[in-house]
Amino acid sequence: MSTQLSNMFDTSVYEEACGYISGRVKESFGERKPIAGVILGSGLGGLADVIESSLVIPYSDIPHFPQSTAVGHKGNLIFGMLGGKFIVAMQGRFHYYEGYEMRQVTFPVRIMKLLGIDYLFVSNAAGGVNYDYRVGDLMIIRDHINLMPNPLVGKNNDRFGPRFPDMTRPYDRTLIAKAEEVAERLGYSLKKGVYLAGTGPTYETPSEYEYFRRIGADAVGMSTVPEVIVARHSGIPVFGMSVITNEAHHFADDFVNDGDDVVKAANEAAGRMTAIFTGILESL
Ligand code: HPA
Repeated sequence: MSTQLSNMFDTSVYEEACGYISGRVKESFGERKPIAGVILGSGLGGLADVIESSLVIPYSDIPHFPQSTAVGHKGNLIFGMLGGKFIVAMQGRFHYYEGYEMRQVTFPVRIMKLLGIDYLFVSNAAGGVNYDYRVGDLMIIRDHINLMPNPLVGKNNDRFGPRFPDMTRPYDRTLIAKAEEVAERLGYSLKKGVYLAGTGPTYETPSEYEYFRRIGADAVGMSTVPEVIVARHSGIPVFGMSVITNEAHHFADDFVNDGDDVVKAANEAAGRMTAIFTGILESL
């Protein structure tokens, strides 16, 4: 095992990163703890632009923090106000398909836990395998199917949570109800479904999409579930939302999946997703 990886078992690594960040937050805002962490998916970084009085900390400034490489992802931790609440947003996440270890993919969630968040909001771009889903739809994640390696494999860090965490309610029902209220007020219609996470980086074959549909998935992507598992391990209530960026059913003869189209479709939906997240935060 590499030194870096074995170090990541060690709570002091999380504490060093957290200590650096807390110092920067204190300089800008005094003693202040974010109520929520927000992880922004591919093409959804626009939410960061509406965070007020923000402090932007590049990942490269933070000890032990990985760097993001994926298309449509910047690498900043952003502190500031959204929906009248003090939050921290991750503009750019770490994907398993980039070659990161699961401990690195989920490292920021543990940092946010140590920073004191009470809620985690996650977002992603996803392929809609449900026949009713269309490009641009927003889906509340009500459950997930994990087909990635589990990020909690290995020695348990009891500081964060138990060896065998419960997963019967991965997505918080109160937050889902609030999202539905906000959407109704704004006149948005939302889907609600099951997100399936695969490793990527390939998009799926038509038969794989069909397989995922048959086992109960409504949407499929390459992220989010590792972070949700690690958040639930340490008891953080989670709200998740997918933006449907491609219709993974009824393929036209000349159809191909393309990362640029995914980012473009996500960009177009980012404003609506931001409005939902903002509305939920207002109600907390
Ligand atoms: N499959 C996997 N990940 C994705 C997709 C997809 O069809 N669309 C956006 N992210």
